[in-house]
Formats: sequence, C-alpha cells, structure tokens
Amino acid sequence: MNLLRKKSIAELVRGTEGNCLRKTLGATDLVLLGIGCIIGTGIFVLTGVAAAKYAGPGIMLSFVLSGLACAFAAIAYSELASMVPVTGGAYTFAYVAMGEVVSFMVGWALICEYTIGSAAIAAGWSGYMVGLLKSAGIVLPTAWTAVPADGGILNVPSILITAILTFLLILGTRESATLNKILVFIKLGCIAFFLFLATPHIDPLNWQPFLPYGWGGVATGAAIVFFAYIGFDTVATAAEECKNPNRDIPIGIVGSLVVATILYIAVAAVLTGVVPYSALNNSEPVAYALRAIGMNFGSALVALGAICGITTVLLVFMYGQSRVFLAMARDGMIPQSLVKIHPQYGTPHIITIIAGGVVSVLSGLLPINIIAELCNMGTLFAFVLVSLGVWVLRRTQPDMPRPFRCPAVGVVVPLAVLLCSYLIVNLPLRTVLFFGGWQIIGMVVYFMYSRKNSTLASKPVGISLKE
Ligand code: ALA
Repeated sequence: MNLLRKKSIAELVRGTEGNCLRKTLGATDLVLLGIGCIIGTGIFVLTGVAAAKYAGPGIMLSFVLSGLACAFAAIAYSELASMVPVTGGAYTFAYVAMGEVVSFMVGWALICEYTIGSAAIAAGWSGYMVGLLKSAGIVLPTAWTAVPADGGILNVPSILITAILTFLLILGTRESATLNKILVFIKLGCIAFFLFLATPHIDPLNWQPFLPYGWGGVATGAAIVFFAYIGFDTVATAAEECKNPNRDIPIGIVGSLVVATILYIAVAAVLTGVVPYSALNNSEPVAYALRAIGMNFGSALVALGAICGITTVLLVFMYGQSRVFLAMARDGMIPQSLVKIHPQYGTPHIITIIAGGVVSVLSGLLPINIIAELCNMGTLFAFVLVSLGVWVLRRTQPDMPRPFRCPAVGVVVPLAVLLCSYLIVNLPLRTVLFFGGWQIIGMVVYFMYSRKNSTLASKPVGISLKE
C-alpha cells in the first residue's frame, strides 16, 4: 500500500513557512501572467498546420472545443491550487490527493509536457526567425533551418535559441513581472495589428467548404491546437503570491483563457479567410498570410512581435521544467545530485543543461506537429488526473479549507475528464503509444529508484498521512 502514501497539506504548507512569498498579485496581474504564458507557438504556427492538415476553416470550432476542455480543467485546477499553494503544480496536487505512484506518473507526464513543449515552442520561434531574416534579404539554407522530415538536416535556429535560454536560466534569469507585461502588450498588439491588416482582405469563398474533413477533422484539429492553451496552469501555481486567491485565481485563469480563446478564434477565422487553408501548412502562417496579400512590411512587424512573444513562452516553459524536476528531487523521486544548485548562480545547472540538451535535439530533428502532439498528450493526462484529484480530496478531506471551491463539482470534474479524454483519443495513435512507453519507463524508474528513495519511505505508512 505504500504506493499510495500521501503527503499531507499541512506538511507541505509547513515546508513553506518562513519562506513565504510576498502577496502582491491581483486579478489583472494574473490575467496578464496567464496571457504571457499561453499565447505563443500554438496560435502563430500550429493553427496553420492544423487547418491545412485536419480541420480546414473548421479550425475555429477546434479552438472552441479545446478551449472548453481547458476551461473545465482550469476551474478544477484552481481549487487544488488554492488548497495546496506551493510550488510543483499538478505533481504536488496529485501527491496530496492520490498518493505517490500517481503523483510520480503526473510528474513524469509534466516532464514530457515541459521538455517536449519547449522543443515545439523553439521550433515555432525558428520558423518566424527564418522568415523574418528572409524578409530582410538574409536567406538561410533549408538544410540548416529545417528538420529531416521537411527536407533539411538540422533546425539550427531552434537549437541556438534553446542554448541561449538554457544559459540565461543557469545565470538565474526569471521572467520579470514588468518585462512580462511589456511583452504581453507587444504580443497582443501584434495580433491586433494582424487582424486589422488582414480582415479587409477576407474572401468568404475561402471558408468553403467549412468542414472539408468533417467533424473528425475538427476533433483532431482540437487535439493539436490544445497546445495553444497550455500554460494557464502557471496562474494556478502563483496562488501563494496572490492577495486574494479565492477571487483572483479563477479570474486569472478563466480571464486569460477567455482572452486567448477570443483571439484564437479571430486569428483562425481571418487566417483561413485570407488564404486557402491548404496553403497554411508552413512554419510562419500568420506572416505568410500577410505577405500573400502584399503586406510585406506588416508581415515583418508581426513576425517580430511573434518572436518576442514566443521567446517569453519558451523561457517560462524551460523554467517550469526545472521546477518540476526540483519538486520531484526534493521528494526523493529523482536523484538529488541532478538538481544540485550552482554555488555561484543559485540555479540547478546540471538538470537545466541536460533538459536544454534534450530540448535542442528534439527541436533540431523532429517536426513541430509531432512534438506538439506529444506535449499535448502529457498535459491532457495530467489534467485528467488533477481533475479527478479534486473529487478525491472532496471525499477524503472534506473539511480542509478551500479558498476557492470549484462550483458544481459534480458537473465540472466529469466534463473536464471527458473532454480531455476525448482530445486524447483524437491524438494520433503513435502519440498515445509513445506516451505509454514513456510512462512504462517512468514506472521502471519509480520501482527501481524512487520508491526506495522517497522521503516518505522512511515514515511508517498511515501516521503523517492525515491532517
Ligand atoms: N501555449 C503555448 C504556446 O502556444 C505553449 O506556445
């Protein structure tokens, strides 16, 4: 039974005592934080790929479907985030709600989300950078800017951006609130500018047929553009720093999701309205669409904004990755030596370098849609378990204070689980199989190492598990 040993919330919160973060964030800060982490490669790149290959103009519906799945999961997520206001996100929530082996699986899925997600984001960055340089007359050879599946050898720009950010993370760079705000406004400005320039050029004939691949295409498209919504969980992890988490966390999460959904549907409508959807399967569809209607300068400006926006998302993801590793190492799930803190910079340099290396290899060699799908799989799996965790804790710890209570939990949790599972079954089979393999490796690690080395291993089961 020690597979199900749990951490108590009191134990976790005690661990943060004397080390409390200042409570400075309000609702608007959280919405901006959410937007900063959400809007990136998903909207700027994957919308085009998913429209061209799967959904056609029906990609607008894909965004609605995916947004709904996220909204329900987000509301459930908010409850756990307000109850367990410590770092580690879904991994920590699962440790409290469902026990060690499940939390290990969630942590293992989050490693997949952050590492593979970073690779997809870096690939998106590369597409816009190469396009921007081309607009400036600097044409880089395809061999060194594309992955083998796209006729190249290695995607060098994505490796370079990963290396630069890895280096900055080792030096201790974190997203600063002010810089994040500036970049969020640049990002929103760039999307508004795109809509302003392109909307007058919409030809409604491009929206015919609306569902060239039927509902199945919309559902597969939704499973892919789900990537565009990932990142809102960062808002939940800021619960510790909120002035009024009960009110502000749900506003932050739902608010940033609503803003993103509206923008995504608008961009999807305009993109598929100005050029035929079949032409959107390229590495910088938003900039491409503007060039196609003769707006070369506007295209370059939008590309520049996209590059800034994508860079922040990449930084947040690569930083989030080290947080998951740290949380798991602190619990003895992975070797402490991996997260050894650099004496001078105070950052976990070893794991940052290893993870940066993996991100570089993946983004340098694999097509963006394949890596984004894998990232989605890991995230959806974690969302399903976190949503179930809300239910479990309502039964096992009904009296625990819940600064934010998920409304209509009997409806929200099942809908979150069903919608996220529906997106999972719409992912390509290879993705599901790969993820299954990843989890099997995880279980080997768990049974060979983590179970014995867990910090809970030395405690008699059943003693400190309850409040
Ligand atoms: N939602 C993030 C993006 O689209 C991961 O880049």
